[in-house]
Order: sequence, then C-alpha cells, then structure tokens
Amino acid sequence: MAPELFKAFSELTYRHTGIVLADGNEHLVAGRIRGRVRALGLAGAPEYLALLRAGGPELDEFVNAITTNVTAFFREPEHFKLLHRAARKKAAEGRSLRIWCAAASSGEEPYSIAITLREALGDSADRCSVFATDINSEVIEHARTGRYEQRVVANLGDDLMARHFERDGDLVAVVPATRRLVTFSTLNLIEPAWRLPGGFDIVFCRNVMIYFDRPTQAGIVSRLTGQLRPGGLLLVGHSESLAGLCPGLTTLRPSIYQRPLAHRRAS
Ligand SMILES: C[S@@+](CC[C@H](N)C(=O)[O-])C[C@H]1O[C@@H](n2cnc3c(N)ncnc32)[C@H](O)[C@@H]1O
Repeated sequence: MAPELFKAFSELTYRHTGIVLADGNEHLVAGRIRGRVRALGLAGAPEYLALLRAGGPELDEFVNAITTNVTAFFREPEHFKLLHRAARKKAAEGRSLRIWCAAASSGEEPYSIAITLREALGDSADRCSVFATDINSEVIEHARTGRYEQRVVANLGDDLMARHFERDGDLVAVVPATRRLVTFSTLNLIEPAWRLPGGFDIVFCRNVMIYFDRPTQAGIVSRLTGQLRPGGLLLVGHSESLAGLCPGLTTLRPSIYQRPLAHRRAS
C-alpha cells in the first residue's frame, strides 16, 4: 500500500476509533480491508477510501475490520482472583457488584467475569450485573450468542465446563444462568459522552489502552474514573501501566487502580 494511502486510512482510523496505526502497518491495513473491497466489488483500496470518506454505514464495517479482537477466557487470571475476593467481600456486606467490561471483544472476558461471580456467589450472583461493550458491532453480535468453538474453551477445566457450558452442536454455549448476568452493547471509548447507567464497582478496560496515544488514554481514564463508585476499581492489561495518567485514582498495582473512598478537601 502506498504511503499516502496508508496515511489516509490511519487518519480515518484514529478519528473514528482512537487507534494509532504506526508506520510499518501497511500490510496489516491492506489485509484487513481486502475482504471489504472484495465484498463491495471495488477495484481497490483507493476506491474503498473514497467510499469511506463519503460517509455512511460502511464506516462501521471498516471499524469492524480494522480492530484487533484477540482475547481469551480468563486472560490475565489474577484479575479474576481479585474479582472473586471482591464479590465475596461485598456479599458479606450484603451488597452486590456492578461491573463494566469496556472492551469486551467476542465475550470471553465478560463471560469469565460472570463465571467468576457465579463461582463466588452461587445464586446470589443474580444480584450482580456485567455491562459489556466494544466498538466492534460484529464481535458484540458474536458475544451475545454465547457460543464458542471447542478450542476456545479447551483450557477451562472439567468443573467450569460442567457448570457453565452446554453442548450446542459442534460448539459449546454458555449456560443461560451464567449468560443472563451479562448485557452487551456497542460503545466507542473515544466518544466524549457515554450514555451509561454509571456507578460501577469494577471497570475492566484491558488490552485496549495499548492502541491509543497518551492524550486519548488520559481522556478515557478521566471519564472512566467518573464512572467508578468511591472505592471502585479500574483494571487495565498487565502491559498497560497508566502511570501519570490518572490523578483521580490510587495505584494499587500497575494494572489495578482505585477511586479513593472520599476525596480530601484542599486546605
Ligand atoms: C485486544 S482486544 C482486548 C479484549 C479484552 N479486553 C481482553 O483483554 O482480552 C481489544 C478490543 O478493544 C476494542 N476497541 C478498540 N478501540 C475501541 C474503542 N475506541 N472503543 C471501544 N472498544 C475499542 C476492539 O474492538 C477489541 O475488541
């Protein structure tokens, strides 16, 4: 792909998703849009760019094609141990958890959260909720089905498989009791105002910050902080330290941040 064409696709991507496509990703972009160019019967990438610039629904398809959706059940497992402990503690206080999974991809992460809540709380997990969002409408559609190939769940172990999955033809499906804890929606993290119920105890925003530059990260973290209840936790991926980006949060560990219980007044 010619440098000017790559630059144009990069700018479009940045404007609509916040994702920074560094130089050297020409092949990646060419590969990601190839299917759309073919499906639309276009001559090539320049024609596709012209179509995107004209606006309209193809922009969503472009975003779906350009985002990287790699995920896994119980990825970075320490966060799920923390979640298990937090759920038990809240339950002992007679309270439930409201959780937002803000880059949910095809559902493996929010269903891992739901499984953890069920394991920790049994039937009482019904009082908890997991709101799962992603910019990519295609992965959210997949996530809603709760259906996965066998290889995706291969490492989960017999006990979790027996309690949280059922056979569905060649696939496996998350059982309704676990699935109903999660609701899915599309949401773009770089939008300035999110229409959200707010007041979350834990926000999982993992392995997405890495695609954004510092100003975009800072804006998102500031708005995520506003979505947390006092004492609430923000979890990011293990390689995504927010050092210097979250003045309103206390760093518990490089991937775990907490909104203080009460703000001290400046004297
Ligand atoms: C690498 S996946 C990480 C999935 C999951 N959080 C995990 O840790 O396994 C990154 C996800 O972020 C989503 N994403 C990228 N830009 C986004 C944006 N501006 N708003 C919301 N989601 C975005 C992508 O669509 C993708 O599903």
